Amino acid sequence: MRVLVLNGSPKKRSDTFRMTERFLQGLNPAGEHAITVVNVIEKQIAPCRGCFGCWQQMEGHCLIDDDQNGILDLYRTSDLVIWSFPLYCYGMPSHLKAVLDRTIPLVKMKMVQQDDGRVQHEALADFSKIHTLVISGCGFPDWEGNFDALRMQCKQCFGNLTMVCVPETPMLNVPQAAVVADPLLSRFEQAGAEYAQSLTLSPETIQELETPMIPREMYIRIVNGN
Ligand SMILES: Cc1cc2nc3c(=O)[nH]c(=O)nc-3n(C[C@H](O)[C@H](O)[C@H](O)COP(=O)(O)O)c2cc1C
Repeated sequence: MRVLVLNGSPKKRSDTFRMTERFLQGLNPAGEHAITVVNVIEKQIAPCRGCFGCWQQMEGHCLIDDDQNGILDLYRTSDLVIWSFPLYCYGMPSHLKAVLDRTIPLVKMKMVQQDDGRVQHEALADFSKIHTLVISGCGFPDWEGNFDALRMQCKQCFGNLTMVCVPETPMLNVPQAAVVADPLLSRFEQAGAEYAQSLTLSPETIQELETPMIPREMYIRIVNGN
């Protein structure tokens, strides 16, 4: 399986990427999969100009001559694309959103109605085999609404989607929190193995991965230093 990992954290020691790394260890224990990790923050990716030049003359590429065309080439030949990023203002960080916006060369202007009533642009080629996994960490404790906008956006944008949204992820880089962080990271490794088998995760697995490491009130108290 060809796996493209889009690491959207701008940090060297990303809380979110710690989970993704363990997931990859479980997914690829014997190194049989070809995994490419792109640290998006290190790439030159300008915002989309909205010129639609891609639809008029570029055949699956973007008129802007920067690193995005290389990402598009990796994307279209992947079996699995993992979007790994921290939640920023209830969505994805802007540099990663630029990557998402600029996947527009992969579709045509032509619109098609899906069976569920949604209207989408027709894909340039059959990308239905590409699976998408979103792993997003965030700084708030678990509360209804924090991930809602992101979940909706990903549902509209990606086919074959599996999403894991994890609260309290700054705990993963606090040595004193290892007692609760390590079991979560182990669970991510198991989830990677599960994904390699089934190309999805069971609702039970997702629920376990999304369960807060510590209760909300305790987390807020620790963050606030009291
Ligand atoms: C600009 C910015 C916006 C953020 N917005 C949110 C948010 O909407 N909800 C949330 O729970 N955490 C938010 N956070 C916290 C990050 O999601 C959190 O610190 C995360 O663990 C960082 O992950 P990383 O180490 O992988 O980059 C925000 C952080 C930054 C810097």
